[in-house]
Parts: sequence; structure tokens; C-alpha cells
Amino acid sequence: MDPSHQRPAADPPKALDIQDRVAALVARMSLDDKIGQMALGQPGTASPPETLGDAIRGGRIGAVVNVVERAAINELQRIAVEESPHGIPLLVGRDVIHGFQTILPIPLGQAASWNPELVRAGARVAAEEAARSGINWTFAPMIDISRDPRWGRIAESLGEDVFLTGRLAMAMVEGFQGRSLADAGSIAACAKHFAGYGAAESGRDYATTNIPDNELHNVYLPPFRAAVEGGVASLMTSFSDLDGVPATAHAGLLRDVLRGQWSFDGIVVSDWESIPQLSVHGLTANDREAAIAAANAGVEVEMASATYARHLADAVRSGRVDLETIDAAVARILTLKFELGLFEAPYTQATDNPQAKRETALQVARQAALQSMVLLKNHNDLLPLDSQRMERLAILGPLADAAYEQLGTWIFDGEADRSVSALAGIRARLGSDTEIIHLPVLETSRSREFVDIDAALAAVRAADAAILFLGEESILSGEAHSRANIDLPGAQAKLVQRIRASGKPVVAVILAGRPLTLANIVDQVDAMLYAWHPGSMGGPAIADLLFGIESPSGKLPVTFPRAVGQIPLYYNAKNTGKPPRPDTVTRIDEIPVQAPQTSLGMSAFHLDIDHTPLFAFGHGLSYARFEYSDLRIRPPQIAPGECVRISVELRNAGRRAAEEIAQLYVRDPVASITRPVRELKGFQRVRVAPGQAVRIEFRLHADDLRFYRRPSGWILEPGRFQVWVGGDSNADLAGEFQLIDA
Ligand code: BGC
Repeated sequence: MDPSHQRPAADPPKALDIQDRVAALVARMSLDDKIGQMALGQPGTASPPETLGDAIRGGRIGAVVNVVERAAINELQRIAVEESPHGIPLLVGRDVIHGFQTILPIPLGQAASWNPELVRAGARVAAEEAARSGINWTFAPMIDISRDPRWGRIAESLGEDVFLTGRLAMAMVEGFQGRSLADAGSIAACAKHFAGYGAAESGRDYATTNIPDNELHNVYLPPFRAAVEGGVASLMTSFSDLDGVPATAHAGLLRDVLRGQWSFDGIVVSDWESIPQLSVHGLTANDREAAIAAANAGVEVEMASATYARHLADAVRSGRVDLETIDAAVARILTLKFELGLFEAPYTQATDNPQAKRETALQVARQAALQSMVLLKNHNDLLPLDSQRMERLAILGPLADAAYEQLGTWIFDGEADRSVSALAGIRARLGSDTEIIHLPVLETSRSREFVDIDAALAAVRAADAAILFLGEESILSGEAHSRANIDLPGAQAKLVQRIRASGKPVVAVILAGRPLTLANIVDQVDAMLYAWHPGSMGGPAIADLLFGIESPSGKLPVTFPRAVGQIPLYYNAKNTGKPPRPDTVTRIDEIPVQAPQTSLGMSAFHLDIDHTPLFAFGHGLSYARFEYSDLRIRPPQIAPGECVRISVELRNAGRRAAEEIAQLYVRDPVASITRPVRELKGFQRVRVAPGQAVRIEFRLHADDLRFYRRPSGWILEPGRFQVWVGGDSNADLAGEFQLIDA
């Protein structure tokens, strides 16, 4: 291929032209050509065995996944354009989940920034790097609501909240897709996994889900609707089954909800081999039936497996699948290819100035890392550490110098040499005035034996403070990497105890792909910073926060339980008929023997643990001190179609400028179905100078109070609504307003 054949995508193709061109093309295609467009192949698995090039040349594959090298992709595009039956270019897919060569924090970490603009910028950086390699389709964002930290894929999610996930999903879609899919640096996004995957029982990946209809519509589906409204080009089905029907064959979801109610006109792709897995689920007897079920449910593209290639043509001829279904599927696939400008510009060239792009990417990654980290504890304001006063620092733990491990899951294309470890970041920040003694003490996060513990203890005794880098490596979270026990693995808790005994100030920095249960160490450290897997620029960001160049500003996008036995534990739960009282505290050891059955209060709590989480949704400390006051709600009464304005004064009573994330929660205390005790309905990230106060206003539309109830669908019920504004989901500045009948 001669790159000079590249034609610039001058004007984005217009919708009407596209429709005409698609119709003309579909009219010329044979049934086999059409089914070829519905196949997504990957190197080495074509069936019958043939090279990808041959499959493309024969028109048997219309998309590829996991080819990433520009020259290889250009060559495959050349075969498609010059040698395949209708010269149709390829969709080139890849899991660009949180960065490409430059790695951003894991999505769960990005969600902790509560910053849609930054999340959008991060997705843009990822899209531009991926597009430069010839990739034009990413399998992101992953927007499964996740209430179970055991689930390895919680790392890829945007957390437990419907509203936050929906906002950030739209931001990611905008970042990947840009203003136009045909723009240089834009790639098609794919919202996944539709739907309910995050509810896998006990957090075991791929396990079945049990989601009542009301929960499905009120909790699990709204982020997908937001992505659809944000123009997402594609959706991926979930591996899981939903009320007895695997999502990949779920016509109710794919046809009635997605196409019918939401008017989605993009494409639906299966997950990896999830079509033949319909038979493993026990829904279909064989691949042929599986292909028929998926095609009829509305899955347009089959990923990795080849049941469509083998069985769809015959299924059409025998009347099991209508030709119109195939035509509609192919029309959608071709429409996306036209929208991406692939017919005009199928090839990719190296950009002029990769170094400049790289610097921008690293800056965005650093900003994202900074804003994603959450200060969970800061006893006696130990942090920030004053670098002037630190003559000697002990830097310990298996993740202090772990440039690779801090990148997190799904980093196929991440460049290790772009990653700066915490140790390197701290050294660069402190220069030579502070002596740093670094000892990992544990070889990996899972090691049970200490190495050099005596040297480590001596280092701590001689140091002004100890900073422990703990957590879990990348490989302990992500797909098929769920854990039943989510304490710090190995001997890390023991290490904390040993260091604690020195009496020196102890800071714990946790790098992890999920919320860990930290109850056994939180009292043993003075300060705790949760860094997630922060990506390439994790090290400099950690150093900036520890030494006060910046104030921490992340807030938890997910509840941190005290113990696994509390899971699922999430802030927007139902009240129940017997909620625990705020003062319900349990000390199992103090319960008298033969105590009367009802003596402990008869409410929804565990006998052996406090009923509250260790850290609540929305929690996150700052080096500033934020105070909320003067809640105003205007007007006190609204009708359907109207807005209520809710404002507060936010004062920075501390001594440093910092950013705070103000959060708005609402409760519908009496409704025709039980509603959550609180629901996030708004948030704003604001910077406030020391001693200054700002007024923050949220506008809540009556439609934001709607909820789904079977069988009526989405309804709005008049009545009283309670409101809270503050810095976390326990905010206590409260008010209320009325929604009246029209
Ligand atoms: C995952 C998807 C991913 C796909 C392609 C599957 O196993 O569930 O999220 O996009 O693989 O790599």
C-alpha cells in the first residue's frame, strides 16, 4: 500500500448521502457478502483455518479485532478495499479501555475524579493514540453498575452510581467519538455490557444475575440510555443471563428496549464467543440454534466465533431468520463505516508530531491521576508532608517501585517506559536533600515472607516518616480476576503492624483495582491515600499529593465495606421496614448469653459488625476544610416540566486552595414502590481559595424525579422530596420541596 493513496476525509459524509450509498451497496450484495460483514475476526482463529487476509479477500470478514500495528492494519484495509467483493473497508476493534500507549487511571479511578471534562479529555487522548495505529473502534466505555468489589471487572467500571456512571459514560463517548466520527483521532465507542453483567452473583465473573425488573430499569439500564443519547456508535451484549435469558439472545432488551424505546440506530456486537455460549448456558442446543437466536434478538456482529458464518445463510434460506433482519444489520454496519469516513480514507499514516502528542497525553494522564486519588484518612493532618523537614524517608512495600503494576488491567498496548513509579516520582519531587531508603520488604503483594524486615525497621526508626505502598498487582483485578477475600493479600497487614510499632508517622498509599477491605489496617496508619491503579503518571501524581503541591480532590465512586460479609453494600439502598438506627453498634463479644431474642433491636444489621461502611460513597478528604451552609430551595413547590433550584454556600475554612466535589442527593420518601434512601442527582467540582466562599447552584428538573415501575413504565409521582447537599453521601445539610400535580 502506498500511503500517498490516503485521501483526506474532507467533509464528513452527510446522513442522507450515507443512506443512499448504503442502500445501493446492500442491493448489490449477495447473502454471503452480507453475512461476511457481520463477522468480526481475529488473527489465528479464522474458521475454516485461513489467514485474516484470505478471509477478508473472500468477503467473509467485515471487521477485525486485536490487530494493532499500523502497517498490518493498512495492509488488511488494502485487501478489503482493493480485493474484496465490494471494496468495503474494515472496522478495526481493540479494547482501548483506559488509554492506549499512555495509560490513564483505571476507569474506576477516573470515576473518582467526578470530572466529566477530564474523563472526556482522557478518552480523547486514548482515541488519538489508537487512531494513529489504524484502530477505529474501541470496546469502551464499560458502564456496568458495580456494587460488588469482589468482582474483578469493577476496575473497568465507573462505580456503583447510576447518575455518575451516566454522566461519565457520555463524557467517554464524546472523547472517543469527537464531534464527528470522521474526524482524525475519532474512533467509534461501544457501551458494554448490555446489560446487568455487574450484578454477577457473589462477584464471580460471568456468574448469573438476579435483577428484579424495577432494579434493571432504575439502576442498570439508565447509563446505557445516557450513552445512547450521547450518540454511542455501538453496544456490546453481556455474557451473563438475565431472568433466564442470556443477554446475547435477549430480544426484550435488544429489540424492545434498545431499538424500540430508545431508538438506537448503531450496531450491537456480541461479546467474545458469547453466541456459541448460548448453548453452554443451556438456551440453545447447538451453534446453529445459537446463531439464529442471537440474530433474531438483534445482534449484528459476532465477535471471535463463527456461528453466523457457518449457519446464518442456511437459516435465512430455511426461513428461520428473515432476510430483512440481515439487511437491516448490514445497513447499520455499513452506515458506521461510512460515518467513520472509512470509504473516503481507509488508511492511516504516522502523524507529523508524535512527541508533542505524547507530552499532551502524559499531562492529561497526570491530571487524571491527581484528581482520581482519594484521601481516606488524615489523622492530625499528617499530610501533606513538609519536604523541607523530611531529612530521611522510609519508602516500603511491594508497590512502591512498580511502574508496570500501577497501570492496572487492560493495558495491552501500554508502553512501560512511559510509566513513572511512586518511588521515581518521589525522588524527582524531593531532590537530594532528603535521604530515601527504599525496601520492598515483600516481593509481591501476595508474599507471606518478609525480606530485609530488620533493615526496614531500622530505616523507619531513623526516618521522619514511613510511606507504605500496598495493595494488589494489576493481575488481581480485571476480567475473570475476582477475589473472594479482598483484604490486603499476603503479609501486608502484618507489615503495617510491624511498622506501626516503631511509633513513627505512617502513611499508607494503596494501589488497587477495587475497593479493598481495610478495616484491619486503617487504625494502624496515620494517613491513607487510595491511588487505585493510577496509570502511567501515577508516581508524579502521588508525589504531588503527598508533599502538598496539590490537594487531594477525588471522592469514592463506590462504597468501601468493612468486610466481605456486608456485600452488597451501596449508598442508594432501600430503607427496609426495619432500618438500623444511627446508634446501632454491635459488639458481639458483649452480648450476654441467653439474652432475650429481641434485646438487640430487631433491625437490618449484622451482629458482628457495624452496619455502616468503612468509607461511604462520595467520601474523600482534602487539605482544605470545606463547610456547607445556607441551603436554599427555590421555588418550594414545582409542577411537572419545571425546575427547582437548590443552592448552598461552600466555604473553604482551611489555609489552602483546593477543589471540592459538592454533591446533591434526593429522596422520594413516599412512592408507589419503595425508593432508595438517597440518590445522587447532581455534582460539581469547584475550586475555592482559602477563606473564600462560593454559592453553588444545582437545577433539578421534575423529570429527574421519575422512576420506573412495572407495568406503567417511567412515571412521575407528586409529593414531598427530601434534599441533601454536601461533600459525601452522608451529607446532613437538608431541605425539601414539593412536586405538585400539573
Ligand atoms: C470482554 C469484553 C472485551 C472482549 C474483547 C471479552 O472477554 O468481556 O469486554 O471487549 O473480550 O477483548
